[in-house]
Amino acid sequence: MLNQIKKLEKQAIESIAGAVGTDELEKLRIQYLGRQGEVNKLGKLMPGLPDKDKKTAGQSLNRLKQNLAATLEKKSQDLQNISSQVKLADLDQPSHPYSPFGHLHIVTQAIEEIVEIFKHIGFERVRHPEVDWDWFAFEALNMPKGHPARDEWETLFVDALENPKMGKMVLTPHTSNGQVREMLRLGKAPIRMINIAKNYRRQQDVTHTVMLHQFEGLCIDKNINISHLKGTIDYFAKNYYGPDVKSRIRPFHFNFTEPSFEVDFSCSICSGKGCRACKSGWHEVGGAGMVHPNVLRAGGINPEKYSGFAFGWGVERSYMMKPGLQIPDLRIFYQNDIRFLEQF
Ligand code: DAH
Repeated sequence: MLNQIKKLEKQAIESIAGAVGTDELEKLRIQYLGRQGEVNKLGKLMPGLPDKDKKTAGQSLNRLKQNLAATLEKKSQDLQNISSQVKLADLDQPSHPYSPFGHLHIVTQAIEEIVEIFKHIGFERVRHPEVDWDWFAFEALNMPKGHPARDEWETLFVDALENPKMGKMVLTPHTSNGQVREMLRLGKAPIRMINIAKNYRRQQDVTHTVMLHQFEGLCIDKNINISHLKGTIDYFAKNYYGPDVKSRIRPFHFNFTEPSFEVDFSCSICSGKGCRACKSGWHEVGGAGMVHPNVLRAGGINPEKYSGFAFGWGVERSYMMKPGLQIPDLRIFYQNDIRFLEQF
């Protein structure tokens, strides 16, 4: 009898442990502890036992009953816990209706839009180094060592070995380093490039960040003149800001262009009449000019045969001038404040 009890206990506990659902567990409860169940069946054999064995057999049977009841109860709780966890991870559940959806950063959106606009008039986006030799950033742009024109750019120099010909390594303060790089890369004209890159300057206030993006246009071919430059700038202004926006160029000085200009776009808030945002009716965006013969020569292009224009300005700054935007501080682009970023 004791052996039968032990065997039954082992079998019952194994099947309870293996049960995978509450229905199966209920069936096992009936099978073992029900009125017609296995335990009671053993109990019915009791009267036939010799008197001396009855007591221990009765005690063992009671213990078996209690043990199975407790095991069933424990297993039932386990199954309930599992089913509530499974519900949490139910992959068929519809997703949360307000899950946040990310999008590209505004600067990336602006870059994509600029690239798209210039693509239509044959300008190809290229990439040139953001950390480059002094030679490409200054010297090849007609700004020899020690030339005061360099002061315009508050340049950060890299603490690295100087190259005998190329000079020091700089964090590019403008994208104009891409001009001669592109001439040398192609080795010939015609050229129509848009170089967009990160630049760095030792300056930080409401209109400047230490890291900024610029885009640089360069067009070199036979018989290129200022009207091509003006037409290109105008085309960009109308496509980026709206059909009523006008552009103008004013005489200026850059060492790498001759003649040189500053470029303004009419204010889209007041349609050029003059308002609090623009004061004069115009916003200055950047520089431009006809590529200096020395710069063409540095890029291996014969200035007797070819001429070109170039322009360059900040991505963030020109984005801020878009109609309908009122971004008072350029630094907010890079503060990772989701309340600002999600508005775009
Ligand atoms: N690189 C100049 C700057 O950072 C802007 C510029 C001026 C670019 C004249 C040009 C140019 O290509 O022709 O201020």
